[in-house]
Amino acid sequence: MQSKDIRAKFIEFFESRGHTFVPSSPVVPNDDPTLLFANAGMNQFKPIFLGQKQPEVLRAVNSQKCIRAGGKHNDLEEVGKDGYHHTFFEMLGNWSFGDYYKKEAISWAWELLTGVYGLPKEKLHATVYKTDQEAYELWKSETDIIPEHITFHGDKDNFWEMGDTGPCGPCSEIHFDRGAASCEKHGSPGHVCEVNGDCSRYIELWNLVFIQYNRDSEGSLNPLKHSYVDTGAGLERICQVLQDVSSNYDTDLFSRLLSTIATLSGKPYSEETGISHRVIADHIRSLCFALADGGFPSNEGRGYVLRRILRRAARHGRLLGFFEPFLWKLVDTLIEQMGDHFTELKGKTDFIKMVIKAEEERFNKTLDTGLTKFSELTAKDASTISGADAFMLYDTFGFPLDLTQLLAEEKGMQVDTAGFEEEMTKQRERARAASKFALQQDDEDWVVLSDCTNTEFLGYTGYTCDSRICRYCLKEGGLIHFVLDKTPFYAESGGQIADSGTVSSEDYEISVSDVRKTESAYIHIGKLERGIITSKVAKAVINESLRRDTARNHTATHILHKALRDCLGESVQQKGSLVTADYFRFDFTHFQALTDEEIAIVEAQVNEIIRQNRSVFTRIMGIEDAKASGAMALFGEKYSQEVRVVQVDSYSSELCGGTHVSSSGEIGLFRIKSESSSAAGIRRIEGVTGRAAYADTKADQALLKELAALLQSNPTQLKTKLENTLEQIHKQNQEIRALKEKLIGFDIDQLLSLAEDTGDYKLIKAILPADTDLKLYRDLLASRITGTIAVLITASSGNVSLVSVVSKDLIPRYSAGKIVQALCTVLDGKGGGKPDFAMGGGKDNGKLTVLLDSLSQYINPIQ
Ligand code: ALA
Repeated sequence: MQSKDIRAKFIEFFESRGHTFVPSSPVVPNDDPTLLFANAGMNQFKPIFLGQKQPEVLRAVNSQKCIRAGGKHNDLEEVGKDGYHHTFFEMLGNWSFGDYYKKEAISWAWELLTGVYGLPKEKLHATVYKTDQEAYELWKSETDIIPEHITFHGDKDNFWEMGDTGPCGPCSEIHFDRGAASCEKHGSPGHVCEVNGDCSRYIELWNLVFIQYNRDSEGSLNPLKHSYVDTGAGLERICQVLQDVSSNYDTDLFSRLLSTIATLSGKPYSEETGISHRVIADHIRSLCFALADGGFPSNEGRGYVLRRILRRAARHGRLLGFFEPFLWKLVDTLIEQMGDHFTELKGKTDFIKMVIKAEEERFNKTLDTGLTKFSELTAKDASTISGADAFMLYDTFGFPLDLTQLLAEEKGMQVDTAGFEEEMTKQRERARAASKFALQQDDEDWVVLSDCTNTEFLGYTGYTCDSRICRYCLKEGGLIHFVLDKTPFYAESGGQIADSGTVSSEDYEISVSDVRKTESAYIHIGKLERGIITSKVAKAVINESLRRDTARNHTATHILHKALRDCLGESVQQKGSLVTADYFRFDFTHFQALTDEEIAIVEAQVNEIIRQNRSVFTRIMGIEDAKASGAMALFGEKYSQEVRVVQVDSYSSELCGGTHVSSSGEIGLFRIKSESSSAAGIRRIEGVTGRAAYADTKADQALLKELAALLQSNPTQLKTKLENTLEQIHKQNQEIRALKEKLIGFDIDQLLSLAEDTGDYKLIKAILPADTDLKLYRDLLASRITGTIAVLITASSGNVSLVSVVSKDLIPRYSAGKIVQALCTVLDGKGGGKPDFAMGGGKDNGKLTVLLDSLSQYINPIQ
């Protein structure tokens, strides 16, 4: 039975028993910091076991991509030595989330193995946890396993844990007896072939875990709310048994990879001599799946594990005679084999190849020199390689520690790993300190294709050129940094942003989004869209229309600089600028904001120079000559002896390395959008030219049309129409007030008639509707009262507003301000005003009615 059928039959078997197929989670678990890589099928269900998430289904089946190369389950060093250890493997599994339990888990596993896969029961053995009598009885009652084939074991073999923390529980394993011949110790004195004994006769096929606990960070076991079934069967091992071969590597899962390795190396594979073949075949699987799922080689965490896996494979490649990168050539074979089930591999072929090839190139370079260094070190008469030497091999030659250990082992030597770790810690501290002073430097982890060190910039005269990649460095997310021997791409400097565009050859295509300059090289930053990087001639093409827009803005800032000095005086000095394709920003010294008139004059002057279509040209001159000729330089800037001077005819002359239009007319149109302060004594002008200025003008026009349409007019009559409308609104407001006054007049008559005489004064009090214009009431009331004090209140949504009016004749004995203050205090608010009129506000805190009833208590004569 082929591997794909074995996988399919497992899934079908459980689907027909009510399980839902759940695709494998990514092998790089970005959502679980406790895990380096997915190491079991249950990882993605961890939140369900811990009760943090409700299961969507009660029964699930899956084939999970797993990598065990770090953390609790780490098989890296074992891979290659035998026929069944792997860094990458597929784990078939079925799960019950609080639904069925031990009985079904055991009987279905048995049914699948013996019924569907047809394994003979004589060769199957089951183990159970030392105290799990229930599982023991179930094996006897639910299956026809030979009862003597059921054995009890302790924590080491029959208690499964995901990691140092997390879900766990007792388990029951199914082992297969491969026959006495497959145990090399068979017959030797003192050796007994047995399950979980130290022999290769029995291999574990399937682990049924009965998850019951969560191990916390203190190490304690906490019972879970429900009991769960979590099983895991290694596809590779089931294939081995069903295909009746003696090693996982002899199954169809590996045969194509091994034969590609044999063909490329010219060294046929055999079980006896095939350690390196096996390491490479295993490791390429881990690498492809991890890269496809978002992993990336680096010096830390997961990335470091991937780097070690790759270097281990590359080092074994050496043993097979590969001196050039070769691992990447296995990617197609692997994807042909696995891509139908794991479709995520398919779209990423080029990316995976590229990352692997780049890592190999880099490693190969250091491996040669490193091996020479290693021989020198081991020539000394010592039994141990010191931590400092192991670190030097790591730091300078890229040797992972286990590579040094492997090489040392071959020579019968040890490595001082504790000393190595100490050096690593020191290096991390140094790196932290250094990063505080990081500068833009050409110190990336380059893959060097040719030794061109300088980039020739051809972008002053052209938008495209033929060039080659001299060196490159791949970054996470498909990003790439690379250096070209010649380039038309302008690198960000002097305020002008970098060009964007593409670099492509028959082998690859890169879209470039940024370019930075070091002392001598242009570092292009982009995304590898297709293919594999080679040193073949490529076409570098910049985005011409963005470059032209940028040039318009750049030349415009030179003209603006001169126009500002003409208008505001020679004290104006450029303090900085930003020139992009969309707009420009220009900062300059000036002690105050520009008036509208000054802005208009400057804008008009720049446009005048544009219309005169002055020619723009550049000259290379000695710095002193340039300054003597009146060319403007940025104060405080360091210039080299030879400088480039950009002139707009006889109008403006500046030291500048940027790209410009060839005559001012190309700028088309110039508009100032804003003038503001940027820092003390520094003003900032932002503006647009060319296409953006035109678009801006069109937008203004459209807005005018829209506004005119709202007023049922047209742009030419808009002003008159708006003035008339405002006049009309003013008149109507006056009419409304007159009408309101009339209406309120009736209310006031009534309020006056209800005034209470307190002996000393008459008191008017009232709660008026929420939308009452209290001020208007006040005005009208004030003109009609004598010997009277009024308090008017409105209340809405929990808030209270109030006014108090005191008639002139009662002043200064009474004060409206004091009255309002006293009332507002009761209402948890604030207020005040003059003796004749005051306003305030407070909360409708339930005291309003009482307050009104005893109002005169708060109205006290001034002493
Ligand atoms: N989670 C169990 C294992 O990985 C099934 O062995």
